[in-house]
Amino acid sequence: MAGIYIHIPFCNSKCGYCGFYSVPSLKLKERFLEALKEEIAKRTENKQTIETIYFGGGTPSLLSTEEIKTLLHIIYNYYNVTPNAEITLEANPDTLSPEYLEGLRHLGINRLSIGIQSFFDNDLKYLSRRHDSTHARQCITWAKQAGFSNISIDLIYGLPTSNADQWSRNLDLFFGMNLPHLSAYALTLEPNAILTKQIEQGKAMPVSDEDALRDYDILCRRAKENGLLHYEISNFCQPGMHSKHNAAYWFGTPYAGFGPSAHSYDGTSRQWNIASVETYMDTGGQNAERETLSEEQQYDEYVMLRLRTHWGIDLKYMKREMGERFSTYCEQHAQPLIAQGRLSQTREFLYLTDEQMLFADGIAEELFWENL
Ligand SMILES: C[S@@+](CC[C@H](N)C(=O)[O-])C[C@H]1O[C@@H](n2cnc3c(N)ncnc32)[C@H](O)[C@@H]1O
Ligand code: SF4
Repeated sequence: MAGIYIHIPFCNSKCGYCGFYSVPSLKLKERFLEALKEEIAKRTENKQTIETIYFGGGTPSLLSTEEIKTLLHIIYNYYNVTPNAEITLEANPDTLSPEYLEGLRHLGINRLSIGIQSFFDNDLKYLSRRHDSTHARQCITWAKQAGFSNISIDLIYGLPTSNADQWSRNLDLFFGMNLPHLSAYALTLEPNAILTKQIEQGKAMPVSDEDALRDYDILCRRAKENGLLHYEISNFCQPGMHSKHNAAYWFGTPYAGFGPSAHSYDGTSRQWNIASVETYMDTGGQNAERETLSEEQQYDEYVMLRLRTHWGIDLKYMKREMGERFSTYCEQHAQPLIAQGRLSQTREFLYLTDEQMLFADGIAEELFWENL
């Protein structure tokens, strides 16, 4: 077991674009935390070794430092957490203060992922964020002052309120802060998100693919100029500073996810908790659905996950771990894509360049096992 993911399903309010599972109220927090403790206790067998812990959401930074301390104690009780484990907490700027950040640091949280989204007020307003651009900058300064060096921020591009110049200035502000990690996402219109409905009803500015492509080009170019490694479609880092937790997902390393909507993977089967905090509490965290992956499904997963990263598909690994029928199939099906310039190959690695990476999902589909 490499990692533990804890889903905290609460937010102060729901951002218009967001498709993650969370409820905009803290009413159920105490009961939820009890169910979470129950789930961890029930699902954990022998003391497995853990190298990463990730508090995601929702808004984990809505928990008090005391509540996070209790959760960490439980995890340390049931697992053998390595001394240099990466412990990340997703933080929403509107919940951060210098005292809170110092408290987190003292608890041993050693990586922060802050949902900045943009350093410009017109973008933040469009995204219905609760913080403004001044606070966005302020909380990064506070995080550094509290002793955090492993800080990542989230930015969203392809916004109709922005343009090439404003997006470049957003990136300039990020580079000026000398932070080791950036997650930059193209704005996606999620089926049930409020913003999607508002756009459909003509009440919010529409989103264009051209804007997203333009911003992605700027992002890739500027990241390279500033020495950042583009290691996954949406993730960039200074050398050696990739998210160990997320990299484990892409490498197919087992992980346990706790909390509503959290996913788990044990090497051959996937499990996912139902996305309902009420059901979660009523069942004491015993509400998971499970699927055992066939060899062909494991091949598809490997292709899909690895093509999203700069590590790419390792044909030698595939042959060794999955068998020659898969590596031969993959290599054969890769040839037309390579000839069309949609996929690249260096020795035994099949990978996507910056330009090709945006189309990773479609390209992966063409390499998937047939007739499933
Ligand atoms: C769980 S949230 C982050 C933590 C915290 N709740 C916050 O918003 O600050 C994960 C990130 O996914 C990104 N995200 C969520 N929905 C998105 C969408 N529809 N399009 C693009 N990015 C999205 C945002 O950048 C967001 O910060
Ligand atoms: S983006 Fe973050 S704060 Fe906004 S609704 Fe989603 S999880 Fe909550």
